[in-house]
Amino acid sequence: MKDVDGNEYIDFNSGIAVLAVGHSHPRIVKAIKDQAEKLIHYSWTDFYYKPIIDLGEQLTKITPGSFAKKVFYCNSGAEAIEAAMKMVRWHTRKSLFLAYTGSFHGRTFGAMALTASKPVQRRHFFPLVSEVTHVPYPYCYRCPFGLTYPECNMWCVDFIEEEVLKKFHPAEDTAAMFVEPIQGEGGYVVPPDDYFQRLKKILDKYDILMVDDEIQSGMGRTGKWFAVEHWGVTPEIVTIAKALASGLPIGAAVAMADLMDWEVGSHANTFGGNPVACAAALQVIDVMREERLMENATRQGAYLMKRLKEMQQKYPLLGDVRGKGLMVGVEFVKDQETKEPASQEVQEVINKCFRRGLAIITCGKSTMRFAPPLIITHEIIDEGLEIFEGAVKEVAAQLR
Ligand SMILES: Cc1ncc(COP(=O)(O)O)c(C=O)c1O
Repeated sequence: MKDVDGNEYIDFNSGIAVLAVGHSHPRIVKAIKDQAEKLIHYSWTDFYYKPIIDLGEQLTKITPGSFAKKVFYCNSGAEAIEAAMKMVRWHTRKSLFLAYTGSFHGRTFGAMALTASKPVQRRHFFPLVSEVTHVPYPYCYRCPFGLTYPECNMWCVDFIEEEVLKKFHPAEDTAAMFVEPIQGEGGYVVPPDDYFQRLKKILDKYDILMVDDEIQSGMGRTGKWFAVEHWGVTPEIVTIAKALASGLPIGAAVAMADLMDWEVGSHANTFGGNPVACAAALQVIDVMREERLMENATRQGAYLMKRLKEMQQKYPLLGDVRGKGLMVGVEFVKDQETKEPASQEVQEVINKCFRRGLAIITCGKSTMRFAPPLIITHEIIDEGLEIFEGAVKEVAAQLR
């Protein structure tokens, strides 16, 4: 990227995980231009047009599950979450939701009630949409129960059944659980390998739907279309936005067809599934396939993790390195033993990186999030990491 003064930046952020296929990919730009010349808008609530149907066909194919599906279109991630919240209440006639501490699902009122990663996201906005219970996310580096994996036998899953569903949050009244397969804004936290399978069994046992929020982790970022596929779990609803149309606003909730049985007028909007955004999204899906960007995400992600783990050996400031594909987090700590979050230090590293030509942002309390476009190469990773390491070295030296 180049700024107004002509300074150049390596992009390790992708506009918050949006520019998966890179900036202004020529095929996306052409698709946008071509579609804009034909039809810019026509409310899909009342009339269909081809790009929205073609995209629906693609989305039902690439999301997990071979069952019949339906797609609801909107303009953002938060709106996709709102649609899922309303859909599960409408279909199940149950009102309660489960979500995670540390989660981020958006900032509209419904989504904000699920969101629980930072007080600032909710402060002074109460009362929220009620009936959400938050349970601890499987954050093994900082286990909320003070346990260690795998000796813990994943008490965090059993906790949901034993301490929540059986004690105060009746399963009969619980419509759905909202999950991020890798927690994004909460700190790029990756659950242990057998976690989601165990969780899904409990949800199935109690007839609770799983809404898989892939708004940040989806569309190939982790090396698969959707991150939940890493664990072989099939959710009933998948929410998508961010990278879907390479920067044009669009969101989608893809659901098992039976779940979207609401009556006409129950939920709708004016702009959702805009034809220009749909045309861009169709190209994104093609480019992902043709340029083999998921393979690249896996390959470059492994390289990035390897390099970061090597750095971790040199700098105790880097407490934990974790991720899947090109969704990688490095948690900064003041001390590897106490794991005290190094929030100020991570901010200093970010500022130094920015001044030296690397665009990167944080998440959680003190985690650096690496989410470059999926077209990235070894060489550009090396260039970016050189800037990153230089900044880490200087900030680490001040700590001593
Ligand atoms: C996992 C997740 N869900 C939902 C959202 C909300 O999306 P939007 O900002 O498009 O409303 C985000 C945004 O960062 C997200 O990361």
